Amino acid sequence: MKIFKTRREFQAHSLELKKSGKSIALVPTMGFLHDGHMSLIDIARKKADVVMVSIFVNPTQFAPNEDFDRYPRDFDGDVAKCIDHGADVIFAPETGEMYDENSSCWVEEVSLSKPLCGRSRPTFYRGVTTVVTKLFHLAQPDYAVFGLKDAQQCFVIEKMVKDLDFPIEIIPAPLVRDADGLALSSRNRYLSADERSRALSIHRALLGAKAEIIADHSVMDAALLRAKAGIESAGGKVDYVDILDCDTMAYPGEKTKRVIVAAAAFFGTTRLIDNEIFEF
Ligand code: PAF
Repeated sequence: MKIFKTRREFQAHSLELKKSGKSIALVPTMGFLHDGHMSLIDIARKKADVVMVSIFVNPTQFAPNEDFDRYPRDFDGDVAKCIDHGADVIFAPETGEMYDENSSCWVEEVSLSKPLCGRSRPTFYRGVTTVVTKLFHLAQPDYAVFGLKDAQQCFVIEKMVKDLDFPIEIIPAPLVRDADGLALSSRNRYLSADERSRALSIHRALLGAKAEIIADHSVMDAALLRAKAGIESAGGKVDYVDILDCDTMAYPGEKTKRVIVAAAAFFGTTRLIDNEIFEF
């Protein structure tokens, strides 16, 4: 296992690997790795000769009022998990290493990134697409694996890769849940036991809406309202409960093939997201 802390050394290593004909799969993360991340590393392991994991809590995707400073970190634990799952390289720059002080370039997707999380976190996806672009240039991956817990993020990155001709295959990986249904997230660590059990209402609400919509598309809006009420009655402060066409991220229409029913809600001060994706 090699660990790189600087951009230049990491990129030099990646370029050497490419020159020697090795294929590379990258798993970008913000650390505090859980079984969801491990499933991404396992997928990467099956795809490429070399598996790289980046661990970087990216400041440009956090708004000033968000949890950048208290985002959970456990570098030693992360390294042990990466070794366990057969990763070959970790890239873990310090905050100040990743961006030059006078950095003035952004990469921005301006369509799929607008609804859902993009509405309540207007600078979030710009931060994500910019850092992921940098990680792609540094890691030189043939494959990059992203979890569908952040499905909108996956769609935005797939669009970026297509529009900007990155020679990279994006591999969307299934969302991983705890046995009781809570979507795995590093932020679950913030929840008290009581908040955690009330947060299960998000998945229950999404499953209820999905079942209703599959049975009858015409009840779509009412189903979303019922899902919202379900989360609120468990004490959640709902940011959004919405249904969108996965390809356009617009309200589903006649041509829609696949939809995402997605929710974001606060339990205490913790904002959680979850989704169900299904044929329409
Ligand atoms: O999904 C995440 O953990 C982050 O948004 C990512 C893709 C690593 C970019 O910082």
